Amino acid sequence: MALSNEIARSALESLVDPLSNKTLGELRAVKRADVAGSTVHAEVELFSHASSARSVIEQGAKEKLGSLGAESVEITFTANVRTRQVSGEDPCPEVKNIILVMSGKGGVGKSTVAANLTLALHRAGARVGLLDADIYGPSVPTMLGVQGRPVSADGKMIEPLERFGVKIMSIGFLLDDPKTAVVWRGPMLHGALQQFLRDVNWGKLDYLVLDLPPGTGDVALTLSQQVKVTGAVIVTTPQEVALIDVYKSISMCQKLSIPVLGVVENMSWFIDPAGNKHEIFGRGGGQKAAEHAKAPLLAQIPMDSLVREWGDNGTPVVQAQPNSPIAKAFKDLAETLSDKITMELNAAYGGTAPADGPKRLKILR
Ligand SMILES: Nc1ncnc2c1ncn2[C@@H]1O[C@H](COP(=O)(O)OP(=O)(O)OP(=O)(O)O)[C@@H](O)[C@H]1O
Ligand SMILES: [Mg+2]
Repeated sequence: MALSNEIARSALESLVDPLSNKTLGELRAVKRADVAGSTVHAEVELFSHASSARSVIEQGAKEKLGSLGAESVEITFTANVRTRQVSGEDPCPEVKNIILVMSGKGGVGKSTVAANLTLALHRAGARVGLLDADIYGPSVPTMLGVQGRPVSADGKMIEPLERFGVKIMSIGFLLDDPKTAVVWRGPMLHGALQQFLRDVNWGKLDYLVLDLPPGTGDVALTLSQQVKVTGAVIVTTPQEVALIDVYKSISMCQKLSIPVLGVVENMSWFIDPAGNKHEIFGRGGGQKAAEHAKAPLLAQIPMDSLVREWGDNGTPVVQAQPNSPIAKAFKDLAETLSDKITMELNAAYGGTAPADGPKRLKILR
């Protein structure tokens, strides 16, 4: 029997999406299945752009269609990313997910993780923004090599700056001298963050990544009052002393009902030129923090001088050297995190088929 479009489609529709445990047929995920000669061209829509489901489905499709006579299978993956809860008062209803990158501890690599995660998600095909919520010591302008003053076309909404295809906003863009200290009092902080969420023209985004200042402080509290975030990514280093502060930020998330999506252990080890591994900051911190938060350890990112060099140069390493091992570590993080978000939101939807964006969610609430 010759392979027809119908047979190819139903073979693809019988494959199971590992993140929802539903068939692609149930998810109405097969958007196209065309047979040309002995090749099947298909389009499959997943819940995220960076997803481990891709390789699972690709492999399954090759085996199944191969047994039906196809010699090659070419799948184009698209994504309809799940949406966090969006209420009528939400400051940015078109932003599907808000991810806080935080840690009780300073200097552990929050900004580095936020910048590289943002670019990894973008490079996988997602629409992404990066908001520098570190209004005390903004580092996003330096790390992404972006300067300039955001303008407003209509006198109401502020246009974010753009770099490497990502929308970016930072208090650093609004200061005359970036070296000046900003002194915020509670209401000012509240207003500034609200403006960054509500009055910046983010447009339709799959993910808005927020780089938070160190400490347990006001920023997370204020954010939690203003917007329903998807969750937090906690950054730590492997050593014990970092953990005390990291535990504080985890418990703050729990008090504020901010879901902890997982922990990233940064500076986990260093590989010297001879290939030997050195655990400079000890070991086990990420795993301990993850257990404390009852959340997964999403990634262990090694120390690599490329990270600092490219960060100082204004081009995060994921963008500057996308094929390097360190860039791969950040890409894997993007995949693991977006899978985690998909699974969390799938559970929140009671395992039903994807709702189509914020409108449907408004009705659901
Ligand atoms: N994996 C890594 N390998 C090498 N250098 C790193 C790594 N992660 C971060 N760094 C470097 O460590 C320094 C601190 O990182 P970063 O600014 O991202 O930390 P932070 O937690 O955001 O700090 P702060 O608390 O001041 O906001 C930077 O110079 C950065 O380039
Ligand atoms: Mg920082």
